[in-house]
Amino acid sequence: MPPCDQTPAWAALQAQWQGEGGAPSLADEFARDSARTARLSQHAPHVWADLSKQWLRPGTEALLQQLAHERGVLAWRDAMFAGEAVNTTERRAAMHWLLRTPPDGGQIAAADAVHRWDGTVRAALAEVHETLDAMLALADEVRADARITDVVHIGIGGSHLGPEMVVQALEDWRDAGRRMHFVANIDGHELGQVLRGLRAGHTLFLIASKTFTTAETMRNAHSARDWFLAHGGSADAAHPCALARHFVALTTNVEAAARFGITRTLGFRDWVGGRYSLWSAIGLPIAIAVGPAVFRALLAGAHAMDAHFLLAPPAQNLPLRLGLLDVYCRNICGLPSRCVAPYSAGLRRLPAYLQQLEMESNGKRVTREGVQLAVQSAPIVWGEAGTNGQHAYFQMLHQGPDVIPVEFIALREAGRGLPEHHHELTVNAVAQAQALMLGRASDAPEKRCPGNRPSTFLLLDRLDAASLGALIALQEHRVFVSGAVWGIDSFDQWGVELGKQLAGDLLARERSGDWAGVDGSTRALMHQLGV
Ligand code: F6P
Repeated sequence: MPPCDQTPAWAALQAQWQGEGGAPSLADEFARDSARTARLSQHAPHVWADLSKQWLRPGTEALLQQLAHERGVLAWRDAMFAGEAVNTTERRAAMHWLLRTPPDGGQIAAADAVHRWDGTVRAALAEVHETLDAMLALADEVRADARITDVVHIGIGGSHLGPEMVVQALEDWRDAGRRMHFVANIDGHELGQVLRGLRAGHTLFLIASKTFTTAETMRNAHSARDWFLAHGGSADAAHPCALARHFVALTTNVEAAARFGITRTLGFRDWVGGRYSLWSAIGLPIAIAVGPAVFRALLAGAHAMDAHFLLAPPAQNLPLRLGLLDVYCRNICGLPSRCVAPYSAGLRRLPAYLQQLEMESNGKRVTREGVQLAVQSAPIVWGEAGTNGQHAYFQMLHQGPDVIPVEFIALREAGRGLPEHHHELTVNAVAQAQALMLGRASDAPEKRCPGNRPSTFLLLDRLDAASLGALIALQEHRVFVSGAVWGIDSFDQWGVELGKQLAGDLLARERSGDWAGVDGSTRALMHQLGV
């Protein structure tokens, strides 16, 4: 299979872009085609998506579909859903989708990929449901225990961003009374602040780490254990305030959790990537916060999107279309970043979640075969909830020299918090998309807004568990699609290892006093720290 930039479709996309003088005029495209919104929008499970304000000309999407075909994207999708080792550098499957698959295959049972399942995948599905049942039973137990007033979830990266984002988003379904805390940073400011308000006998600590070796999580977990033992807790399992009752591990490394002193562990397998893990045991804080039924609704929403990705025809397959659009924006239009603007305070952590999902998955410069990519890969993903972002960075979106496509995410229905505010919130999202597209003419250069700035509009009916599950799965799969076009392994993250290793090395050198061979700049910085 040729690299993406050597396919006929790539050449045709570039020819269209260059031949027609770069970006189309969105105003002209709408004037020319009264059916543009109908043609470039679609329904997918729980989401309506409008791609009509993107720099798409007639024929562009057909060329993108051809590119997907020439790059074998749908065959690679089927390989993922068949349980094959699509994480090639780590020789592992990527089966986060199995975590939301019903025991009988549910809506994906008819898919070709499912017919290719071998005994390993079927056994994995049975194990998924055993763990899910155990996790939801534990969630129920905690929810019924009136003594537990505070739950502290300690984890970082994929073991933190998803659970925190979902718990915030599903605020309307949470029990009043039990506080949920999320601690990620090794900076003691975070854990210290949380611990100050707690009582050991009323606190449950969840230590979430796929590997149970991540430095930040282990440091925070040890400090939490020290605090617990110093504040009335005990390592004696028979004690009324036993560590065994107040600490739970969520990990693939059950042995390391046991060495730490934790006997209650919920496991998952190495085929669940960190940034794809909120559906696994890592999601326990979500289940505690909103209860088993709502957690199952989250899984069901994601499963509906899995089925859509597997079964919808390509031209109406939203994850496929969004992933291809991402490649188009990045490589053909040359746009290096994507702004995510959820017009929902409940989704305020979604940009951070998507930043890891996109940039840790596709921020790579070699293909799965180890060949240097000739084109750019993941865009910079960033953003902030609207309308707050309008009073911060939207100035740059409207008038800065860089063109940054914006993904607006809005809700048709209000949540429980002051629903009378909702309409104004959502209309603001529409107005911003309009302003980006139309701009403003003015004789005063400082007032002129050039317009013709692209955006996508995603509309959910409401911020409930099913819609949120579908939205997250949509984002996972679009990242998979662009990674497949580029030909990179979207499921490894070797780049983050070097910094971790060097931090360990510097701490070891500090202890030994041996600075031989350390570069002058690093030595000087350490000297400034008093070392
Ligand atoms: O940041 C690198 C990373 O490996 C992420 O991929 C992962 O989500 C995070 O660290 C935490 O890892 P763990 O769950 O093993 O503690």
